Amino acid sequence: MASLASKPKDFEEEIQKAREYYMYGDYSKGITFYKLAIDKLRRYCQTLFDGAEKKRGTECLAELERELQLTIEHERMINEVHENLLGKFIGGGGGGGRPVSSDVYNELNDGESFYNAVIDERPTRDLGFNNNRNPPYGATPFQTPAARFQEARRDVRSTNNNIKSRKATLNLPDNKQKQHDNKRVNNQQNSGEKKYQPTNAEKDLVEGLERDIVQKDPNVRWSDVAGCIAAKKLLQEAVVLPLYMPDFFRGIRRPWKGILLFGPPGTGKTMLAKAVATECKTTFFNVAAANLTSKYHGEGEKLVRLLFELAKFYAPSTVFIDEIDSLCSSRGQTNEHEASRRAKSELLIQMDGVSGALGNDDPSKMVMVLGATNHPWDLDDAMRRRLEKRIYIPLPDLETRKQLLEINLKEVPLDTDVNLNLIAEKLEGYSGSDITSVCRDAAMMQMRRITENLSMIEIQNIAQNLKEQLQLPTKMEDFTNAISKISSSVSKEMLEKYDKWMKDFGSV
Ligand SMILES: Nc1ncnc2c1ncn2[C@@H]1O[C@H](COP(=O)(O)OP(=O)(O)OP(=O)(O)O)[C@@H](O)[C@H]1O
Ligand SMILES: [Mg+2]
Repeated sequence: MASLASKPKDFEEEIQKAREYYMYGDYSKGITFYKLAIDKLRRYCQTLFDGAEKKRGTECLAELERELQLTIEHERMINEVHENLLGKFIGGGGGGGRPVSSDVYNELNDGESFYNAVIDERPTRDLGFNNNRNPPYGATPFQTPAARFQEARRDVRSTNNNIKSRKATLNLPDNKQKQHDNKRVNNQQNSGEKKYQPTNAEKDLVEGLERDIVQKDPNVRWSDVAGCIAAKKLLQEAVVLPLYMPDFFRGIRRPWKGILLFGPPGTGKTMLAKAVATECKTTFFNVAAANLTSKYHGEGEKLVRLLFELAKFYAPSTVFIDEIDSLCSSRGQTNEHEASRRAKSELLIQMDGVSGALGNDDPSKMVMVLGATNHPWDLDDAMRRRLEKRIYIPLPDLETRKQLLEINLKEVPLDTDVNLNLIAEKLEGYSGSDITSVCRDAAMMQMRRITENLSMIEIQNIAQNLKEQLQLPTKMEDFTNAISKISSSVSKEMLEKYDKWMKDFGSV
């Protein structure tokens, strides 16, 4: 190494330049210098005979190749954000959110440029570019490549997060800024509530998302959901309390940003999520995994990105992804479609970008992701990690089964012989939805008895007279009958599987 250091090596200069350009956010120049440096270093290595020195040179080459790839990736991401920004602030016109006005484009690139704005916001880091302390070629001035890549991604994410606040820094021409502001204000005044302004290119997707996904009031109250006490408490702690006590829920006490509800089918997971929407007054995005996977190239990714942009815009928000396993099953499976893999990766990135990630954000701006699944073991490891709280919603216990019977039968007249305690005992092993089915079936028995021997025409003719008879109370034997016809839909093996997963990965 000492011998290497003593020879004049012009590639060292190229490496230094490549890294400096990278540092200042000029990725395309960085890429050019990386390529030059790699080319020169490769030729230099060919002239070496000393084994150790040659090995050292090859290692350096590999490191430079890695840095080059990371820079290319970083440039791609920044370009994406850049395009997004331009699309947003120019307000459409061109297809795909591309800039239509070159003066705005120049405005963004000159003076207080977008890149400078990004760099300005970075904490100052000593990356060893000082000439005196510049490490020998190949010794990276960055952290490990992985750490540096993470850093790069964080920059992009924080850029994404700050899109709105960047408005001032972007230095749009005065008249354009005013038009933009007026548009937003007018919109708010007209509708009485703020409305996300999509670019032309995004319009259809955003309208689709708002129509299918934003749910204002699903009308399910906490009291409609029997049992699930721990889950209700945690959801309240995660969603409601941070809004009431924003100062407390900061730093290490930041609100949970991802919660998973898992358990056998029909135990109330979806109902719990709807109760969050009704009771918590956060904007509720009810996403079925299928809504986010599109066969069109890149569409799924775009939808995920827009979904989170909307969620941030309408914050505080809850993004509920039902059957999350179908979107986030383990990556890399052979049958996995490229489009859904990309949508999945985008979802992981977006989840890292939502507030709470740094712990310093205002809880009123929080975006919480709530997932539900009955196949938790199929979840991707990375997604599992992001869903910090994983709550088991088990089959209902005796007390919950009683509550379920009361909830389901509150409008059904019952005979005096009906013993709900006894029925609840008999329903051991039944899920909430099985119990609902039993109640419906039992409540129909009276009607079946009356209409058993009548033809449809006869029923039609005497329907009015039947009304009173149909109001006769449901009997205990109706329940016994219904229970004998409907069996539990969850097997013992299944329950053992849930218990095991809860032991391995649960986090309440
Ligand atoms: N805890 C509960 N309280 C009240 N009703 C319940 C409860 N659990 C289940 N039910 C009944 O079962 C039906 C299905 O519940 P829900 O859709 O919430 O189940 P899920 O856990 O999301 O099931 P899946 O895993 O199959 O999606 C509800 O409409 C309701 O009638
Ligand atoms: Mg469900």
